[in-house]
Amino acid sequence: MFENLKPQPADKILALMQMYRDDPRQDKVDLGVGVYKNAEGVTPVMRAVKAAEHRIWEAQTTKAYTGLAGDPAYADAMIDLILGSSVERDKIAAVATPGGTGAIRQGFELIRMASPEARVFVSDPTWPNHVSILKYLGMESVAYRYFDPETRAVDFDGMMADLKEARPGDVVLLHGCCHNPTGANLNLSQWQAVADLVNERGLIPMIDIAYQGFGDGLDEDAAGARLVASSVPECLIAASCSKNFGIYRERTGLLMALSQQPDAQALNQKTLAFLNRQNYSFPPDHGARVVTTILTDEALRTDWARELEDVRLAMLDLRQQLAGELQRLTGSDRFGFIAEHRGMFSLLGTTPELVERMRVEHGIYMVGDSRLNIAGLNAQSVPILAKAIVDAGV
Ligand code: LMR
Repeated sequence: MFENLKPQPADKILALMQMYRDDPRQDKVDLGVGVYKNAEGVTPVMRAVKAAEHRIWEAQTTKAYTGLAGDPAYADAMIDLILGSSVERDKIAAVATPGGTGAIRQGFELIRMASPEARVFVSDPTWPNHVSILKYLGMESVAYRYFDPETRAVDFDGMMADLKEARPGDVVLLHGCCHNPTGANLNLSQWQAVADLVNERGLIPMIDIAYQGFGDGLDEDAAGARLVASSVPECLIAASCSKNFGIYRERTGLLMALSQQPDAQALNQKTLAFLNRQNYSFPPDHGARVVTTILTDEALRTDWARELEDVRLAMLDLRQQLAGELQRLTGSDRFGFIAEHRGMFSLLGTTPELVERMRVEHGIYMVGDSRLNIAGLNAQSVPILAKAIVDAGV
């Protein structure tokens, strides 16, 4: 049977990660996969995570199964973090998932179960795995305009025009904050206009929020999701703790299904638990327990939020440094957008050929669509990158 297998397309982000590992150059710069690195180039375990793990290790007396939805306290803590009090808790069904990707996958499966004809509108560009998973599940995706290659900001008119083509029941996938890969984000009045359009046309929003706290702050980054979730009849939210808790390998995510219908929550909750059972049975617990321990303890939560804020400010500082260095080298403000973008990524907006050239000639690793992981930079690599960008003629 195995002779029937065909090679599957490589994920371009993960393929780049491997190429970087295989490159013997000492001064290579990894701006590929979305992982935060501090000034020393290390992805640290956050202080509050270490402390929470210590507490769990001391107090935990069993590793017996939790529930199919994971520990309900985890869902409560995450719902509070993401939605605050914007939506009543009894309107929300939620399950723990293996990472944000698990939440996305389960969300798509839920859509396919409930509405097999629904198409999923995805931003152009989006995280490549969104489109890949949809294709794998046999679901139709439709790209909507999102990024203006001239201004490197959101092409909001294009976005709205394309979303007006969606049929009632179609799904609109939105990035809650820190758009991946562009770094260009909706402002609150644009979120409101999207929510209004969703309501007018009977669309279902699905929000992927994987970088809360990396853009403008924990509450600020959730404002769009809160606005949409509180003003539409139905909505899905897929969240990741990989980045903001720095627990990438623990695979810690959450999928929420929100409905204003009085009886929907119970059925949604059972269906989400059923989907977990079919796909992997019980979701991983360790990362979720760490997150719950942090979010429910005032001192740990304060310390976590402080460290996260330091990470956010360090990324903003790197953005300023890079935009400043490029301004110095080019004598123009052409790269000013780097300081305006938010989150881990910025789309440089150049060709795959020039991206390749920067890799070959300068050891700069960025995704072929010219996505930079700002969090992979440090004071030493900023001038190297700026010079590579200018030398390549971007
Ligand atoms: C990224 O976009 O680099 C991250 O979300 C990591 C991944 O799984 O692709």
